[in-house]
Amino acid sequence: MGIGTEWYRKTLLTITGIPLVEKLSTTYGKRLASRFIAGETLEEALDEIEALGKLGIMATLDHLGEGIQQLSEAAAYKEQYLKLIEGIAARKVNSNVSLKPTQMGLALNQEACCSNIREVVKHARRYRNFVRIDMENTPYTQATIDIVRRLHKEGLKNVGTVLQAYLFRTEQDAKDLLRERVNLRLVKGAYKESSDVAYQKTAEVIESFKNIIKLHLDNGVYTAIASHDDAIISWVKAYVRTKRIQKHAFEFQMLYGLRMNEQARLAKEGYRIRCYVPYGVMWYPYFTRRLAEKPANLMMVLKNMSAL
Ligand code: FDA
Repeated sequence: MGIGTEWYRKTLLTITGIPLVEKLSTTYGKRLASRFIAGETLEEALDEIEALGKLGIMATLDHLGEGIQQLSEAAAYKEQYLKLIEGIAARKVNSNVSLKPTQMGLALNQEACCSNIREVVKHARRYRNFVRIDMENTPYTQATIDIVRRLHKEGLKNVGTVLQAYLFRTEQDAKDLLRERVNLRLVKGAYKESSDVAYQKTAEVIESFKNIIKLHLDNGVYTAIASHDDAIISWVKAYVRTKRIQKHAFEFQMLYGLRMNEQARLAKEGYRIRCYVPYGVMWYPYFTRRLAEKPANLMMVLKNMSAL
């Protein structure tokens, strides 16, 4: 990713915040977004997960929704998550759960958000499942980590979160959470963050990413490495080979609709690979972050457009 790509990412993340762009996209973009979304209903998403399972690909299921306005919406999303956990168990598919803290009310009331998440995590524990709390933008970083730590201390070990390599603070967070053996997904970071808090250069983000991956693998904690980047994936493969780290000590993760052949190939090679499967009607912010990540994603969507 060079300077051109950095410019592209920032521009797209900026224009997608404009209401007119949102209106046009939500009116015309639904079929285009379906490239990245596994359906609007739980059943549709579970069908996709079942198909992935046949290829040896595990899943993490996400009910789309973020930036809610009222706590009643958070309560409704929480109910959806309880059903989703039951749906995974009923269909006996290999999937855990991912959720966004603002969807559970983090921007409105941290305490209420924590109780919503606690309820979901306890429900998941009844079904021997795991809940990953996605990491959103920096106003929520500390609060998200606090909630996950608190639940961990309460004995709920089936909850983990995400660390973003682009943040300056992440190396320290990684060390702290490692001590508490919190299960982490490591990513580059998907939001627009300022140079006060985040690396802006690709090379710096990659170096930080490799450092936190190494820290985890070297300490023998289970590590989820979420990236579509061949350079990162090959580097991880070489690193674990040199260090004689077993394939079951870590997993790769990728997003639904991206590099599906590569996901199947990794599964065939015996690596653990998990696909992040989002579903639901609130697809706009998720979709635009995917477009911002890579011009090729936008090109893929535009190519499909001519076929509509
Ligand atoms: P990036 O987009 O940087 O591309 C680097 C290179 O990878 C490209 O130049 C190309 O070579 C290759 N590549 C990438 N996409 C490709 C494609 N479609 N086809 C072919 N080659 C491709 N972020 C966040 O802030 N909070 C979160 O909770 C999460 N959660 C999350 C879960 C999962 C499962 C994933 C995969 C990602 C996230 N992310 C996230 C998003 C993450 O932070 C990041 O924005 C994206 O993964 C993009 O970075 P990559 O490392 O994937 O490749």
